[in-house]
Amino acid sequence: MEKTLVIIKPDGVKRGLIGNIIKRIEDKGYIISAMMMKQLSKEQLDQHYEEHKNKTFYPSLVSYMSSGNSLIMIVEGVNAIKGMRKIMGATDPIEAEPGSIRGMYGNNKTQNLIHGSDSLESAEREINLFFNSF
Ligand code: CMP
Repeated sequence: MEKTLVIIKPDGVKRGLIGNIIKRIEDKGYIISAMMMKQLSKEQLDQHYEEHKNKTFYPSLVSYMSSGNSLIMIVEGVNAIKGMRKIMGATDPIEAEPGSIRGMYGNNKTQNLIHGSDSLESAEREINLFFNSF
């Protein structure tokens, strides 16, 4: 069993897509073992997105991600890290497969509904950050 950190971002919460997204995760056979609704602060996002800090899109990413509640979850299952990224689809909803969450509901590269850890190392770091530090 693998654990990954999944965030339903503020656009997903505001648009009432939590139920649809959770259904996709559970239909895949994954277990949601922790869940927390939280409006993330700039300081928390700086830690979470530390590898993106110098990117041009970073200010708009932080402003959007701190604009409202996010649903933060630990998702568990066999190959859950890769599997969740497959269900989510590519970062840019235009490139995401039509059946994926971002392909079905995503607006643009920033407001793309959902985050999932991209490696075992990131999953451990992000789970620890959200569920032990914050
Ligand atoms: P996420 O999986 O949360 O990880 C980093 C986020 O940065 C990503 O989803 C997107 O929301 C955002 N992002 C990545 N690339 C771009 C880009 N080129 N322009 C705008 N936002 C981006």
